[in-house]
Amino acid sequence: MGPAMTHTPPKTFHVRSFGCQMNVYDGERMAELLTTQGMEAAPEGIDADLVVLNTCHIREKAVDRVYSEIGRLKREDGTRPMVAVAGCVAQAEGAEISRRAKTVDIVVGPQAYHRLPGLIDEAVAGREAVDTDMPAASKFEALPGRARRTGPSAFLTVQEGCDKFCTYCVVPYTRGAEVSRPWSAILDEARALVDAGAVELTLIGQNVNAWTGEDEAGRMQGLDGLAYALDKLPGLARIRYTTSHPNDMTQALMEAHRDLPKLMPFLHLPVQSGSDRILKAMNRSHSRDSYLRIIDRVRAARPDIALSGDFIVGFPGETEAEFEETLGIVHETRYAQCFSFKYSSRPGTPAADMDGQIAPEVMDERLKRLQAAINEHQLAFNQATVGKRTTILLERKGRHPGQLIGKTPWLQSVHVEAAHARIGDLIEVDILSAGPNSLAGAVTAQQAA
Ligand code: 5AD
Ligand code: SF4
Repeated sequence: MGPAMTHTPPKTFHVRSFGCQMNVYDGERMAELLTTQGMEAAPEGIDADLVVLNTCHIREKAVDRVYSEIGRLKREDGTRPMVAVAGCVAQAEGAEISRRAKTVDIVVGPQAYHRLPGLIDEAVAGREAVDTDMPAASKFEALPGRARRTGPSAFLTVQEGCDKFCTYCVVPYTRGAEVSRPWSAILDEARALVDAGAVELTLIGQNVNAWTGEDEAGRMQGLDGLAYALDKLPGLARIRYTTSHPNDMTQALMEAHRDLPKLMPFLHLPVQSGSDRILKAMNRSHSRDSYLRIIDRVRAARPDIALSGDFIVGFPGETEAEFEETLGIVHETRYAQCFSFKYSSRPGTPAADMDGQIAPEVMDERLKRLQAAINEHQLAFNQATVGKRTTILLERKGRHPGQLIGKTPWLQSVHVEAAHARIGDLIEVDILSAGPNSLAGAVTAQQAA
């Protein structure tokens, strides 16, 4: 493998995560693991002895970024850090990566990163250090306990992988089959995160609402059951989850939104397209109508729920009329926010070989129109909260002195002057004004006194 350069055992490290929230979570776990090995976190990658690039493979652009990032890891004196490529690019490309980028020392997939310490030893010894196994035993059991400090809002992986095989998507290949973490492991980690300062937990999984497991009494539970158990956890104020698949949206989970005050009124439910023909070609196994009926039922259970979605424009064969059906679903659903993407052909997926690949200019134009429709509803949703009194969780400092930024139950960012409040506090605010991306609020008179 690769470089003529040899490395001494690294003393400092820097983990940089790209892509989804699960990568952020994995990045934190890798950092915790390296810390328990006696290594210290360095603020800047280039100064660290070891740089871990925790990569994303979902679209071509994300992959290109990784390679340009690898190229940039050179110091002025001609040396470079030890480089580990982790995450989904590592899984998809394996040893190919070190052939394409000679300065990569370690390649480790998302199900093998608990073995990072051994791989570092291999790299120091100048041996090939590639691990893209998907071992039967869960990596979680081999990872150390959670760190003692965390921010007010923390991620917790409860489910990983995907069995849905949408025809455009690499996730079933890079993250593997759907696996649910056990009930007790999740509750233990939740308690540890709350003890470490978390006020809000976001349960994450590629298909988080497909989570199943047995509770301590041996009863089968779904994600709703987990939410009920977490609702009883002292010190935890907010529960969120992402990402959900429409077909796993159970009545029980909808009712949890009605009955559990800690379960936040926000649902990210990707639909991808508004056209039945395209949905079929995508192998989504739901229709436009079945999706809209799920939305109706969710709203019946929790009328104020904020909805979010993912969209792909320019899937192979998508006609102008089919794209307009996607615009239609945006107007019909009135999302609070959305993510929208141009279709990106991924090697090895069925859609990559389909006829009718769409020209880039057409994709650009459709994405623009889709984003205009999304922005219109996002602004309307934000404006509808002006004049309301609500609770926000303060998560970070704002740009101006004394300014803090918190999140509403509907996941909107609120800027507020709150000199006496601290990050991690839940405070009551009156919403004064709204823009497309954030709100301005004022601490209620009672609390300001
Ligand atoms: N091209 C474009 N977007 C994609 N997504 C997944 N695969 C692709 C692809 N090949 C989008 C989907 C998914 C989100 C995480 O990324 O919208 O919900
Ligand atoms: Fe990919 Fe579809 Fe699975 Fe989501 S549900 S991860 S889009 S295959």
